[in-house]
Amino acid sequence: MSFTVAIDGPAAAGKGTISKGVAAHFGFAHLDTGLLYRAVGRRTLEGMEPVAAAQALTAEELGQGDLRTAEIAQAASKVAVVPEVRAALVDFQRAFARRAGGSVLDGRDIGTVICPEAEVKLFVTASAEVRAERRFLELSAKGAEVTREQVLSDVRERDARDSERSTAPMKPADDAMLLDTSDLSIEAALAQAVAVIEQKRPATP
Ligand code: DC
Repeated sequence: MSFTVAIDGPAAAGKGTISKGVAAHFGFAHLDTGLLYRAVGRRTLEGMEPVAAAQALTAEELGQGDLRTAEIAQAASKVAVVPEVRAALVDFQRAFARRAGGSVLDGRDIGTVICPEAEVKLFVTASAEVRAERRFLELSAKGAEVTREQVLSDVRERDARDSERSTAPMKPADDAMLLDTSDLSIEAALAQAVAVIEQKRPATP
């Protein structure tokens, strides 16, 4: 039986950490759907056309190299505006969501477009300043040469592009639970997510 948890929200709000924690807690499979757009974005930086890159994408590419760079994040946000790119990635995400044993998908449009029937929907947010600080620390720890100002401006630019695009814009589903992590520790945020899922989970999975 399938059981899907959809976790959406802007960059660096904590969805990745919460999704991984939820998957580990319940033994669900996890798909970070941002990686699909990042892999397509990386291909375009190498000169490939975005729609062709999305149509040729393989699961193996998601695990190759570092997709979590600032440059690839911007490229991902740009290819994500193209309706044909999004369309090419739908089947893979829906098939993943339906796998037996439970799944967690995190992204921007999981609760609204990819899995509108998901049993649990969370929209994880935090202020742009808090998110930029988290992303700054993450990128600096990897040795990237970035400034706080640059990261904040990148976060704002990506928020605007992701939420203002006409196809599948980032927004909470009507039935999503909002989780603002600005003033929450990761443990507290994860505990809230686990509690919400616990309530909706069938007694015998
Ligand atoms: O979650 P992330 O930062 O890895 O996502 C990178 C970009 O990919 C994001 O700015 C917009 C796009 N994206 C999307 O449009 N839809 C998704 N479900 C996931 C990511």
